[in-house]
Amino acid sequence: MSAILPPAERLWYRHPIDRVEGTWIAIALIWCLVMFAMMVGWHVWGKQNLSTETYRTTPEKFTAKAQAVVDKYTVRTETADNTPVVAPPPGSDVYMIARLWSFWPIIELEKGKTYKLHLTSLDYNHGFSLQPANINIQIVPGFEHVITVTPNQAGTYSVVCNEFCGINHHTMVGRLYVK
Ligand code: CUA
Repeated sequence: MSAILPPAERLWYRHPIDRVEGTWIAIALIWCLVMFAMMVGWHVWGKQNLSTETYRTTPEKFTAKAQAVVDKYTVRTETADNTPVVAPPPGSDVYMIARLWSFWPIIELEKGKTYKLHLTSLDYNHGFSLQPANINIQIVPGFEHVITVTPNQAGTYSVVCNEFCGINHHTMVGRLYVK
């Protein structure tokens, strides 16, 4: 048979499956199922797939809670537009709002302490990519994503939006400090 000529029998799905081909299909199928199970498994045994809780919310409700924490625990402001830096006590709830095209406020956490980080978007889908820790979460409008975090390394982290959200998507960067 040559690749130039059309196959003699055109209905390929009527041909019997070769044993080697069948074996590879079976191996691929089993491996797909193993990887599918691992997606769930990494939430239990992995260190990077965060298991988030998700609740319905509205921009008004979430903004009110975020504003209350900002009013109570702002320690200073940073950047040209005076973004508050919020340092809530260990164990408390911390809020971060994603919107076109910023993350608000800046958060300051203590190393080794546990917090509940709440995220939402006020407009479209955004991403929460914590660098260089390589933690990724989608931020979906109308939903409050709650992540329990215990930072184990001090430093300055960037929050990068990794869902394309419009003309200034590339400028959508926030900050998180761990002391
Ligand atoms: Cu927000 Cu891209």
